[in-house]
Amino acid sequence: MKKLKIAVIGLGFIGLPLSLSYARKGAHVVGIDVSESLIKEINQGISHHLEFYEGKSLSEILQEQRKENRFYATNHYEQAAQEVDHYIVTVGIPVRNGDPDFSYLTSACESLVKVLKRGDCVILRSTVVPGTTEEVVKLILEKSGLIAGEDFYLAYSSERIAEGRAFEEFITMPLAVGGVNEASALKGKEALSFVTEAEITISQIKTVETAKVIENIQRDVNIAMVQQFARFAEKMGIDTFELIRVANTHKRVQLLTPGPGVGGYCLPNALYYLQPKAQELGVSLSLLEMARQINDQVPRILVSMIKHALEQQGKTLAGSQIAILGLAMKDFSNDDRISPPHHVVEILLEEGAVVKAYDPAVPANYDFKVDELNEAIQDADGLIYLTVQEEFLEINWLEMIKLMKKTPVLLDGKNRIPRSVEGGALLLRI
Ligand SMILES: NC(=O)c1ccc[n+]([C@@H]2O[C@H](COP(=O)([O-])OP(=O)(O)OC[C@H]3O[C@@H](n4cnc5c(N)ncnc54)[C@H](O)[C@@H]3O)[C@@H](O)[C@H]2O)c1
Repeated sequence: MKKLKIAVIGLGFIGLPLSLSYARKGAHVVGIDVSESLIKEINQGISHHLEFYEGKSLSEILQEQRKENRFYATNHYEQAAQEVDHYIVTVGIPVRNGDPDFSYLTSACESLVKVLKRGDCVILRSTVVPGTTEEVVKLILEKSGLIAGEDFYLAYSSERIAEGRAFEEFITMPLAVGGVNEASALKGKEALSFVTEAEITISQIKTVETAKVIENIQRDVNIAMVQQFARFAEKMGIDTFELIRVANTHKRVQLLTPGPGVGGYCLPNALYYLQPKAQELGVSLSLLEMARQINDQVPRILVSMIKHALEQQGKTLAGSQIAILGLAMKDFSNDDRISPPHHVVEILLEEGAVVKAYDPAVPANYDFKVDELNEAIQDADGLIYLTVQEEFLEINWLEMIKLMKKTPVLLDGKNRIPRSVEGGALLLRI
């Protein structure tokens, strides 16, 4: 294969490590983003993403690839177009009040159409409403006068990596790709296999788009089911985690473990990508909708658990100081978008609690966020453990409890606080 020259559009949690994965393999990579501050940071070798590969952090890999002149970031599509003939689009489709907002994707395509050349290959890797590649992206790109499949290649391949394991999974995660015609699918597959060493399955675009959405939804539903098992186990006086461990010894059972809710960009949004098409087609998604509601209610259940426990001790949640450990949407992540811990904080504040949240990995600042673990813990009446971060693994729980008020309530949403912990604390688990 001749030297691959590729632009990655959207330099977020996916686009930046993906760009660097191509660069590491020797491609010439231009990263395109609309955020000037992000471009500046990236070109200076700065990133907050908690990704590591072969002992190096993402920032180190970024600095290395910048030094090798294999990668730089820009907001000029024209400049990128002079240097590349492949594009991977990774801008998101956020969901606002249940509706997918296509504006980032359409605006990226509107910028791309101005510079698209004959022979270029465009691969969409965002998670989308099924049908988007052919019904939205293709229509915009053909405004160039070039025909998809004839004058340029157009393919869709879903992104399946998990944040925190991006570099490894770009290489090892099997992929699926669809093209507007066979040549597009093959061209897309060729570009993907520059980084991916795992199997790449070719299928119809619509099938690949829909598969991605249902891959996410099946996790949402599995977690909702386990949440109901957890509520049942609680009333039965059974340990939920032990219950799941035992059930999972069955070779064909794969229950996930309950946590403080379902967060991040992918799982909570998935249903809302399927819904518009299902409505158009008159298909019911009632089970999936119910699962979403169950998962959305978990933060409220957690707050009512701690409220009830405080009341048993003659206190009220209003006026109590609650320490929150972890704001990221999942363990060992800096990503706090659509994060259940934020929902927990919101409800606590509504209830009149004083919240001090600590997460050493999340760079964003909030009024309720503190800079030190002890600041969150000192004199707290209760604590809710919501996301695991490296620093939390070192916690001496007995020492922590000493800093809190007498007989504090600890609510463990992660099954991480030793069950034997004493010191007068009341330990609750999800
Ligand atoms: N984050 C994940 O773990 C994950 C996993 C699988 C799939 N996905 C999917 O991948 C896609 C990207 O997710 P993400 O987490 O990287 O999102 P992100 O929000 O972190 O990154 C998107 C980037 O696109 C940029 N952008 C917006 N409009 C643009 C435009 N017109 N031109 C150029 N850049 C533009 C934004 O500034 C941002 O930096 C989404 O569709 C998501 O559903 C994400």
